[in-house]
Amino acid sequence: MSQYRIAVIVGSLRKDSFNKKLATALSRLGPADFSFETSRIDDLPLYNQDDDANPADSVKRLKGEITSAHGLLFVTPEYNRSIPGVLKNALDHGSRPYGKSVWNNKPAGVIGASIGAMGTALAQQHLRNVLAYLNTPVLGQPEAFVHAKEGLFDTDGNIGSASRDFLQGWMDRYADWIRQHAA
Ligand code: FNR
Repeated sequence: MSQYRIAVIVGSLRKDSFNKKLATALSRLGPADFSFETSRIDDLPLYNQDDDANPADSVKRLKGEITSAHGLLFVTPEYNRSIPGVLKNALDHGSRPYGKSVWNNKPAGVIGASIGAMGTALAQQHLRNVLAYLNTPVLGQPEAFVHAKEGLFDTDGNIGSASRDFLQGWMDRYADWIRQHAA
């Protein structure tokens, strides 16, 4: 059994999402004692504070998955220079009721791919702001702004040769970060 269970949260719902593929390929670079499981966010209702006392089953499921994980991996595209609304919605759900946030003290890494040359830099910065408020310790370095272009993945869905060493290095530092911070 894996010693470190990681809840992966992907900010794109698109079937052929580069970020979904990136999450899968990254999980294959993880150490043997890490397991990666994607947490669904596509079936969460829009957050409404009126529902705090009576959350939907999908909200309870998400919160349970985050609570039982040792760490978090956010893999997100950039939408209009920020994070997609579906990701913010998931973050808002997990943060409430007040004082019961599931994000508190949960170590995390942030990464993302975009077809733009800046590779989600601005979305990641916005996400870091939110996670700082939520008291989620996020790996600072290395940063990884992944440009989704030809060759990023090989035919088996692994990271292609041009980016493999860099992203393996990122994963190694991420794993160190989780080991240091996991309760
Ligand atoms: C985008 N895209 C985009 N790219 C970028 O680098 N910066 C941006 O601000 C935006 N904004 C944006 C808004 C919206 C609504 C869409 C649909 C797209 C392009 C984006 O990088 C591209 O669609 C990626 O393929 C999205 O990631 P997934 O879905 O492939 O994971």
